[in-house]
Amino acid sequence: MTAFVIEPAKRPLLGYATVPGDKSISHRALLLGALCRGTVRIRGLGTGEDNLCTAHAVHAMGAHVTGLAELVKARDAEITVSGVGLRGLTAPGRDIDCGNAGTAMRLLCGLLSAQRFDSTLFGDPSLTRRPMRRVIDPLSRMGARITGATGAKPGDIYPPLHVTAASGPLTAIDFPMSVASAQVKSAVLLAGLYADGVTRVTEPGSTRDHSERMLAHMGAPVRSSGKVAEIDTRGWDGSLHADIIDVPADPSQSAFILAAALLAGIERVTVARVCINRTRTGFLDVLADMNVLVEMESMRQDGPEPVADLSISRGAGDDLRAATVAGDVTVRAIDELPILAVIAARARGTTVFRDAAELRVKESDRIATTCAMLRALGCEVEEAADGFSVEGMPDRPFRPARIDAAGDHRIAMAGAVAGLAAAGPVRIDDVACVDTSFPGFADVLRGLGADIDVIAD
Ligand code: S3P
Repeated sequence: MTAFVIEPAKRPLLGYATVPGDKSISHRALLLGALCRGTVRIRGLGTGEDNLCTAHAVHAMGAHVTGLAELVKARDAEITVSGVGLRGLTAPGRDIDCGNAGTAMRLLCGLLSAQRFDSTLFGDPSLTRRPMRRVIDPLSRMGARITGATGAKPGDIYPPLHVTAASGPLTAIDFPMSVASAQVKSAVLLAGLYADGVTRVTEPGSTRDHSERMLAHMGAPVRSSGKVAEIDTRGWDGSLHADIIDVPADPSQSAFILAAALLAGIERVTVARVCINRTRTGFLDVLADMNVLVEMESMRQDGPEPVADLSISRGAGDDLRAATVAGDVTVRAIDELPILAVIAARARGTTVFRDAAELRVKESDRIATTCAMLRALGCEVEEAADGFSVEGMPDRPFRPARIDAAGDHRIAMAGAVAGLAAAGPVRIDDVACVDTSFPGFADVLRGLGADIDVIAD
């Protein structure tokens, strides 16, 4: 078992950080790249295990991926996917291992529903506890045949999942989603590529729209407006093309670096080429409400996504104020809530997180694990069904603590960042999970001046 041991910051952080390519966009680049005709070059692919699972999955289905070994070594190497076209995937020959990746499993369900071969998807113990009915229900309405296991919630369906070969085209549906989930939306849109007519998804809140952007970039008949996204295959010849896909840096991983700077004190810290798609920048909006200025420089459009360098400078974390995180912002910051909770614990006042019931079904029950982490650090928190509130303690350091990451990468990284503002060393146990999204996290923090060790025992 590996653990992080992080010492209280002795000096402000300084430097230029590179974080992995965006995890969500990387899954989509691989899956959709596989459906293109011809070779697709992908630059900046996320190097986490989650993305590697998707790469192995498409490779096993005949869309050969080259350059993965170099990517894992060099992190900025380019990979290629030999796209086989919309109807060119072949049976994988073995069960597909989705590891810890809910996005891989749910998006693959959409894609596999339409294939003329059977497939089985499985994952690690955390993924095996995650509910899949949310994708199986709409896909079944489209004609998919997916079965799975029983689990924690009676009536829901859990991995491993078996997808039976489609016997004909899928049926286009008009689907009002009950949960705000980009994974569900994307699974239905992917299946919609194989349906005759208009497949429409209406979401209750604006979830990340990377699938729609990438589909449009590749020439798919996709439209989106407000909370509605649709695929209209009428008159479409089924071809998708992309020579090159540039994956920007992951805003969710950048959040840990900016938070580390806020908690340790900042000289100046910059994270390069970060995706600033509005569906992902709820974190920055909450920071603005907390009185933190994040500068955006070199803003530009990089293929389908807008990017910018994000910097924070001296003084940015000096007067942190509590905020309310609810509604649309919660959806746009859903993966950043654990690290925002750590920042909130340094702010003046009580920060309330609401409308976040989805956190209960992430890699861990993140309402429970975030609250447990903060309590271990000596904070007062109150748990609710759909969120929690954090009593800020700006004038007192966190308590030195030993925190269990509970196999959740975002809890492990949030705990490590908290250690910078503690009165003594903080140890986070069970941190191998960090490699699912941010291999090299400890090195990046160290490069900015933090004192963090990775120990094995
Ligand atoms: C993701 C969507 C979100 C997010 C997850 C990645 C995606 O999940 O939490 O980390 O890539 O589509 P939901 O779709 O379940 O909200």
